[in-house]
Amino acid sequence: MNIVILAAGQGKRMKSALPKVLQPLAGKPLLQHVLETTLALAPKAEPIVVIGHGAQQVQAFLTHLANLDKRFRNVKTVLQKEQKGTGHALLQALPKLKSGLPTLVLYGDVPLCSKETLNKLVRLSDGAVGLLTHHMQDPHGYGRIVRDVDNNVQAIVEEKDANPAIRSIQEINTGIMVLPTKQLGKWLKGIKAKNAQGEYYLTDVITMAVGAGIPVRSAQAAHDYEILGVNDRTQLAELERVLQRQIAQALLENGVTLFDPHRIDVRGELRCGKDVWIDVGCVFEGIVTLADQVRIGPYCVIKNTHIDEGTVIEAFSHLDGAKIGPANRIGPYARIRPDTELASDVHVGNFVEVKNSKIASQSKANHLAYVGDSIVGSRVNIGAGTITCNYDGVNKHQTVIEDDVFIGSDTQLVAPVKVGRGATLGAGTTLTKDAPAGKLTVSRAKQISVEWQRPTKLKSASSKVKKIARK
Ligand code: UD1
Ligand code: MG
Repeated sequence: MNIVILAAGQGKRMKSALPKVLQPLAGKPLLQHVLETTLALAPKAEPIVVIGHGAQQVQAFLTHLANLDKRFRNVKTVLQKEQKGTGHALLQALPKLKSGLPTLVLYGDVPLCSKETLNKLVRLSDGAVGLLTHHMQDPHGYGRIVRDVDNNVQAIVEEKDANPAIRSIQEINTGIMVLPTKQLGKWLKGIKAKNAQGEYYLTDVITMAVGAGIPVRSAQAAHDYEILGVNDRTQLAELERVLQRQIAQALLENGVTLFDPHRIDVRGELRCGKDVWIDVGCVFEGIVTLADQVRIGPYCVIKNTHIDEGTVIEAFSHLDGAKIGPANRIGPYARIRPDTELASDVHVGNFVEVKNSKIASQSKANHLAYVGDSIVGSRVNIGAGTITCNYDGVNKHQTVIEDDVFIGSDTQLVAPVKVGRGATLGAGTTLTKDAPAGKLTVSRAKQISVEWQRPTKLKSASSKVKKIARK
């Protein structure tokens, strides 16, 4: 099968510098949704994308996609320099079509048409023309399907070219169609731009097919949302909700507990094991995997991260690019940044940031700490307010903390620095040299006590600030 995706239009109403087909829906460009469906429908097909408006950006995205995922290496593009209408757009793809196979026409801005619906349309067309039509309460703006007394499709008439009788027809053209490729060249070249918009309408091929005695068959999508296009931000937001609700439903059906299926956003892929619980307001981005019995508290943002069995992420935590081991306790209000690996039974508490660090099992940083570019052993306790000073203003340096170390509160470890096995650092230490194993290391001003009198309140102008006298 030939597959052509029309994606050259401007999408003016989006009011965006980003071409419409690259606008994200559930974290993926609209065009990617369409391509994924086509590749699921016909894995060996070489979809042709007609690009025009923002062609460079769309081409760059497709190249990027092909590099990421080899399924997309078969995707081809053709350039439509000027957007002269849907018929003109398909004409640009004509030289690349295999004449012995039917041609399925899709729109780059209709992202949720299902594989099942397209399959139905393709099978039904079988050498004839297949049209995906839809019945609408309010058909405003769409091309209308005109049928004869025997209910055979005769033509598609655009809203702007329609008389009141035709405008009252509620069956519309979704734009998705299957065409016999052999006749297509002749038809496309025969289209005239004699209409209200001065465009070459692809829909004119329907009358040509009828004239040539080729049957026009129609099919309908199983769900309303499948045929919806994105023309503005409102429609994009509506489809986002539709898709998020579907993703939530699939999670529920796979045994995931969602405290509210209306309050989860998955912008990528979320893979879950058994008995996973997800509280409200969480956002998942990229590829996230949650093993059995993982629990995610409310309002967490989790991106490209793997979380192992039985780990609990408490409310308001932010995880990005991390590997979290089993039985950890993270948050509330924890921030785990890229290239962090936590082993088993690690605790990272409130207002603790961990970046590019490995923390071995049973270690804890429970309050207000920064652990960056560090290797932390097992059973280490990192006290409140501890900071690894990894950055000297130019370069980053590593901190190594060996097993069974105890770090007192408010300690700064000025990297590169190493704390030996079993060492203790006294509270308030600024560590600039390695701390030997097994010993207490402390750097602290000597504590003194002196006689002292508290100042008394000034009588006059008591509410005014006493200014420094200047010369
Ligand atoms: C089109 C159909 C209309 C149908 C409606 C469904 C025609 C003449 N009309 O109208 O019957 O009800 O879609 O949404 O086909 N495109 C190009 N190059 C162009 C023009 C458009 O690639 O020169 C692409 C657009 O990017 C878009 C698709 O074709 O993906 C549809 O174009 P659009 O301008 O939205 O067509 P409509 O006027 O909505
Ligand atoms: Mg449109």
